[in-house]
Amino acid sequence: MNKTTESFLQQKSAKDWAAVGVPRPHESAALHVLGEATYTDDIPEMQGTLHAALGLSQKAHAHIKGMDLAAVKQSRGVVAVYTAKDIPGTNDCGPIIHDDPILADGLVEYVGQPIFLVIADTHDNARRATRMAKVEYEELQAILTPQEAKKAQSFVLPPMHLRRGDFRKAFEGAPHRVKGELYVGGQEQFYLEGQISYAVPKEDRGMHVYCSTQHPSEMQHVVAHALNLHSHHVVVECRRMGGGFGGKESQSALWAAAASIAAAKLNRPVKLRADRDDDMMVTGKRHDFHYEYEVGYDDDGRILAAKVEMVSRAGYSADLSGPVATRAVCHFDNTYYLSDVDILALCGKTNTQSNTAFRGFGGPQGAIAIEYIMDEIARTLGKDALDVRKTNFYGRNDEEGRNVTQYGQKVVDNVIHELVAELEADSDYRQRRDAVRAFNETSPVLKKGIALTPLKFGIAFNLTHLNQAGALVHVYVDGSVLVNHGGTEMGQGVNTKVAQVVAHELGLDLSHVRVSATDTSKVANTSATAASTGADLNGKAAQDAARQIRERLTAFAAQAWKADPASIRFADNQIVIDGNPQPFEEVVRKAYNARVQLWSDGFYATPGLHWDAASMTGNPFFYFAYGAAVSEVVVDTLTGEWKLLRADALYDAGNSLNPAIDIGQVEGGFIQGMGWLTTEELWWNQAGKLMTHAPSTYKIPGISDCPRDFRVKLFKNRNASDSIHRSKAVGEPPLLLPFSVFFAIRDAVASVGDYKVNPPLNAPATSEAILNAVDAVRAAGK
Ligand code: MTE
Ligand code: MOS
Repeated sequence: MNKTTESFLQQKSAKDWAAVGVPRPHESAALHVLGEATYTDDIPEMQGTLHAALGLSQKAHAHIKGMDLAAVKQSRGVVAVYTAKDIPGTNDCGPIIHDDPILADGLVEYVGQPIFLVIADTHDNARRATRMAKVEYEELQAILTPQEAKKAQSFVLPPMHLRRGDFRKAFEGAPHRVKGELYVGGQEQFYLEGQISYAVPKEDRGMHVYCSTQHPSEMQHVVAHALNLHSHHVVVECRRMGGGFGGKESQSALWAAAASIAAAKLNRPVKLRADRDDDMMVTGKRHDFHYEYEVGYDDDGRILAAKVEMVSRAGYSADLSGPVATRAVCHFDNTYYLSDVDILALCGKTNTQSNTAFRGFGGPQGAIAIEYIMDEIARTLGKDALDVRKTNFYGRNDEEGRNVTQYGQKVVDNVIHELVAELEADSDYRQRRDAVRAFNETSPVLKKGIALTPLKFGIAFNLTHLNQAGALVHVYVDGSVLVNHGGTEMGQGVNTKVAQVVAHELGLDLSHVRVSATDTSKVANTSATAASTGADLNGKAAQDAARQIRERLTAFAAQAWKADPASIRFADNQIVIDGNPQPFEEVVRKAYNARVQLWSDGFYATPGLHWDAASMTGNPFFYFAYGAAVSEVVVDTLTGEWKLLRADALYDAGNSLNPAIDIGQVEGGFIQGMGWLTTEELWWNQAGKLMTHAPSTYKIPGISDCPRDFRVKLFKNRNASDSIHRSKAVGEPPLLLPFSVFFAIRDAVASVGDYKVNPPLNAPATSEAILNAVDAVRAAGK
């Protein structure tokens, strides 16, 4: 650590660092901004390190008739070239269903699928050599959209169907009915650090893999299978990622496996780092969804019957499409009670990248459909969309009889009524809505729009057994503390939160506690850091470990000082025994000399969860997180350009462990979700080649796209469930907040037709899509 970092840390007094529930900088904030944080590519390379690159399919669907790799092998610096037949173990890196070859074997199923692996002396030489291959293809029919997949009944998994009540009867009896469709595009994770693995062979067939991954244990399994080894041969380590966003949950496996295969065969360290274009060509993204819906409702806009058929673009293999579809089904209700529902989710098999996790994991895709329907109903009835939304909210309590979700879980912690009321008042929603309407009356070209959208998000993995975590806490004789847990740090601050929890248990300031890299040889059998559960699970596990040490120290101190154990307190870097403060390190040293175990493991399993995948019912979530946002936009109806003028967001992080980090997560999730729904467009040409595979053609939000007036607040609440310090997860749910941006744009477009026509607007609402919607509204008004 250099001088600047040191002084940055010293500026914080001990009190500043202590305890949970207070704003704290990210544990690596100083290293991040100083460029001193070590990402996988920054690890000093070992002597003899080689570099790998992947040769990719140029066809969307084809048999490989022949492959001439002679020129590749002769290319400058090339040491080896491997194909599927060179893999010592299983040629598979699929996380659940094993339909994901590491290297294609005779059949290619998308443009960008890896077919061979080149190892060379440098990264550039390896990449250059991949271009020298001559591959002969026999082309097959390709399916390129989810709609085509549905038509062809081409699916990677069996359909999922959830029904409650009697949709048909309720629909037929409803005073109003609407049928429609919607398409919502996918999204590239665009982590700043691309996929990377650095595999280092160890003695006796061991393999140590430094990997940018959200799921070290899964990487360990995949590498072990590919190398025909046991898990105990393989160590996977990840200090941090430069962003994951779901894209490194399963899809880091290809890179880990490929680097390890080469390292094992050559007995030399091998690094495989994806160039941005290759990363985007090879890896899966957020699933785009196509929806067909039928909804019946009453004069107030209350939904009486809802049916939706959603088909996602799974891509060529299953990957995590099943769990993503499940979460979409479980979030179609969002904050609304749906009495009679029929939800069908299909995972379309397409000849494109295999889509995967992305912040929200299908939740956003489920919820946006019902929000589109709310917006549609409100405009049809000539009501404010917020009023229609409120009419449909889950009930506040049992008496109202409107608090059981479509999958059978009772909503017992509903705060959406209070939360939305607070935001509505704080943001002056009503007055600003009137002002927007008044502005539009006198502004022929620039049109303003405003929308308030709510969110509810279920916290826990649907699959019950994944809801477990482990941790190790070491107290060294000098009183310093090292924490290791199963979660991975991707910028979201899980290490900071876990360190806060441990510091709190031991009464220490944060400078005493250091969190080390996630490592499969320290904490075993970990779950992916995903589903926003990182701090919930690992915080509890670390708390369990720290408590055991505190209990041992308490017992020791009581005996050594002949004190009542109940009188012993841990605070301010001291252990206070019968009112007599002893420095923490002093007691620790004495305890060590008395042969007290000063380290401990910890474990946590979320209680009360169950899920039946066949009937799609159960109690899959530990609790719900809530939130809402108001966005106001101005749209140029001649160019389709728009600007977010102001955004207000209120998010329920429960009793926040760290409000600074949580507000950062809300801001980041908001802007990322805004990109998904507005500017980020994935476009495949007719041959199935993704043409938007770099920032030159794929537009993620920049700083100038952030609203000048951005008011983010945390809702004052306490988790009704016994979560870590009664906090709530924050990683993914805020991605739903910018639904308000999308519907504000739709509101602005609707003004062109005097709010009488529902603008046909799909996501992303690019400038082109906005102009098309403006034209459609004008045409409908004639
Ligand atoms: N924040 C940053 N800075 N970088 C990320 O990659 N990933 C998101 C979210 N916030 C991500 C992030 C996703 S997809 C998830 S599931 C959660 O963080 C995971 O971390 P947590 O469970 O510890 O909140
Ligand atoms: Mo997050 S999509 O669950 O990694």
